[in-house]
Amino acid sequence: MVNLLYLIAAICFILALKGLSSASSSRGGNLFGIFGMVLACCAAFVSTSNIGLVLLAIAVGGSIGLFIAKKVSMTQLPEMVAGFHSLVGLAALLIDFAACFSPRLFDICDNSGHIFVSSLFEIGLGGAIGAVTFTGSVIAFMKLRGIYKSRAIPLAFNFVLLALILLSVLVFVLTENSSYFIIASVLSLIFGITFIVPIGGADMPVVVSMLNSYSGWAASGIGFTLHNDLLIITGALVGASGAILSYIMCKGMNRSLFEVLFSTGVNIAIAGKNKGQNRSYKRGAPEDAAFLLKNASSVIIVPGYGMATSQAQHSLKEMADILKKEGVSVKYAIHPVAGRMPGHMNVLLAEANVPYEDVFELDEINNDFASCDVALVVGANDVTNPAAKNDPTSSIYGMPILEVSKAKTVLFLKRSMSAGYAGVDNELFYAPNTMLLLGDAKKTTEAIIKVL
Ligand code: TAP
Repeated sequence: MVNLLYLIAAICFILALKGLSSASSSRGGNLFGIFGMVLACCAAFVSTSNIGLVLLAIAVGGSIGLFIAKKVSMTQLPEMVAGFHSLVGLAALLIDFAACFSPRLFDICDNSGHIFVSSLFEIGLGGAIGAVTFTGSVIAFMKLRGIYKSRAIPLAFNFVLLALILLSVLVFVLTENSSYFIIASVLSLIFGITFIVPIGGADMPVVVSMLNSYSGWAASGIGFTLHNDLLIITGALVGASGAILSYIMCKGMNRSLFEVLFSTGVNIAIAGKNKGQNRSYKRGAPEDAAFLLKNASSVIIVPGYGMATSQAQHSLKEMADILKKEGVSVKYAIHPVAGRMPGHMNVLLAEANVPYEDVFELDEINNDFASCDVALVVGANDVTNPAAKNDPTSSIYGMPILEVSKAKTVLFLKRSMSAGYAGVDNELFYAPNTMLLLGDAKKTTEAIIKVL
């Protein structure tokens, strides 16, 4: 019965992933996911002998989860996700420690207490992946929160560390000496830090989705140790989908996974150098923007992280509706890494009921900028920055950008002249066809609506 419930739950999780692959079927996908998780929990309840302890754990964990979910704002979601990944990694590491030192409890040894070779392999590798996921996710959390900055670390150091980890795991499997498991775990904890520290700027989204993938493999490893088929399947689903997502994001940013994961961070120092230049730029008022927008025949809105922080999506939709009534064509252009998480902009625009047919991905819309009158950049910066095309020393070099500069006029809605997430100054601010509207994006949009 339990296995049958697990099987149905696993199928639900697969259908959930399928549903989440497009905006229109995502609600259905979510429902499949919820249903699968409820089934999985019911099956776990049926098969547990210590229901009191499980209920206590659910009450404590659930209360903490509820508290965090209520407190977290939409823009803090990526760091929360990174924080949660770290818990999966820690759980995997702790379970592997328990299995290593109490193999009888886990039924993974023969009568004389020797752990089976396959289990030694699962414990060694699972513990290492769990440890990397744990510390790596903590560093990613701190970076996304802005309390820790990227630093350069020599590539050779990480390669040596990785080789030592693999060697320790191998010796542990061959000798069953738990000291090597401890060594592999400690080295992996360090590797999680040194591996993520140099990765910076525009590559963070890929890191978060890679850690997502690692947390899946770590969970799958726990499944092997605990002989739990559902954990193995679910972990593999998370691991594989996270890896595929990382690949897709790398492709979207024109980077190879190797380049991202084995960054040495040498560009980090250069990235901040351009900041604070005293150059002249054109500053406009909402009246100027309203005039340009009303007299345009086509407008492309480019939303970014600033739209999310100011929650300007509803006012933008209202403004777009007014412009459409005036006969202006209004489209939205979404960069694959705009905002702070995959699909961030799509979610916010969907929340404001922006029609799906008005929303275009980078490849679909990039050619349209050349024939568009106004590109309205709302709290986006890195995703429009020409340094990604023109400056090989820039940390975002190679990332495809939305070619807003080709529009007749570019309106930038932002609060100051500061750089975006990658810390790279944007040449476009000083271009002759750019007008900056400094202030909170929502307030500025509301002011434009008033004039319109
Ligand atoms: P950013 O380059 O970070 O630029 C956001 C801009 O919004 C900033 O220039 C900021 O300028 C402005 N801003 C912030 N709050 C605002 C407000 N209340 N009103 C108006 N403007 C506001 O954003 P982007 O163009 O969306 O690019 C995303 C960046 O984040 C990329 O580098 C990407 O690699 C990285 N990243 C993405 C993800 C995912 S998966 N999407 C995950 C992690 C990191 P002011 O401070 O001057 O207002």
